[in-house]
Amino acid sequence: MLIKTVKPGDLRESAVTPESVYLSRRRFMGGMAGLGAGLALLGPGLASADGNAETIGDDAPEWLADKLREARLGVVTPDDPEQDRLTPFRDASTYNNFYEFGPDKSDPARLAHRLQTAPWSVVIDGEVNNGGRMDLEEIARPSQFEERIYRLRCVEGWSMVIPWLGIPLAEVIRRADPTSRAHYVRFETLVDPEQMPGQRSVFSAIDWPYVEGLRLDEAMHPLTLLAMGMYGRELPNQNGAPLRLVVPWKYGFKSIKSIVRISLVEEQPMNTWQQIAPDEYGFYANVNPDVDHPRWSQATERRLPNTLFRPNIIKTQLFNGYADEVASLYAGLDLRTHY
Ligand code: MTE
Repeated sequence: MLIKTVKPGDLRESAVTPESVYLSRRRFMGGMAGLGAGLALLGPGLASADGNAETIGDDAPEWLADKLREARLGVVTPDDPEQDRLTPFRDASTYNNFYEFGPDKSDPARLAHRLQTAPWSVVIDGEVNNGGRMDLEEIARPSQFEERIYRLRCVEGWSMVIPWLGIPLAEVIRRADPTSRAHYVRFETLVDPEQMPGQRSVFSAIDWPYVEGLRLDEAMHPLTLLAMGMYGRELPNQNGAPLRLVVPWKYGFKSIKSIVRISLVEEQPMNTWQQIAPDEYGFYANVNPDVDHPRWSQATERRLPNTLFRPNIIKTQLFNGYADEVASLYAGLDLRTHY
């Protein structure tokens, strides 16, 4: 299992990154008592040093700022020191898919800052004994925040390496106390056309809300994270604030943003992209270089940032490089049929 709890000073060189502000502070943290003390320094400075201050809020509620500050490094270390450098915050927060704000990669950073993310509540319902509507703090409070450095691979053929902050989804599900009929987890994003211009568009093929789902064992897997922060601070709205899923061995579209409902269900849910084009997007969406999308080869990926002269094309790995951790979930399953 790649998940390990490390002291800040133990960070592997593969986490060394051009994200100089983040890392120089991290190194500084290594010499300090712990991450908690260091994260306090990762405030607005990160944004302004990055020239990207306008795209991120600086208004995390106090309880969340405390949780982020107390995060422990539960680092999942991607293994190639050259390829797996952290994606600069600027790229991760300006090149986004969030169709609620429009179809272009730049739409979310331009338009999502108006989304009201506090107060925010999430309904946990379906096959559970202990569900109900909870505010974000109620969901987050009982759990220790962790930082996880994960690859994010989009089915369109680009990828990033992002340091997320959040809590294992498994803990939230366990607290909801699923019944024996709970076999899948279904997630929904907010529907609010007033705040989300993409939901007002007549050109959108999406039947809102954006829906995603996991098998219960996938949802309970220790790699599966509910993220509330990244790069040492709260999630920018364009990245799915205040609460998004991160499933690093699956294509990025599984990692649903701005979640308002988590339902434990008996039947396999129908997901947004699967509903639009079932021959292109399956339920599983496990990263797999051997199973091409009809329009995009999945054999390689473009690791951001890249340029025309430095295309930065790398080989895609089965399960996005997390096969040791997750392949056993799919023993006996034909990954071609169940794409
Ligand atoms: N969640 C919602 N609600 N709406 C979306 O359009 N896009 C998905 C996923 N989650 C999407 C979403 C896709 S296609 C990808 S690749 C990732 O978010 C992108 O995450 P990022 O913008 O933070 O890199």
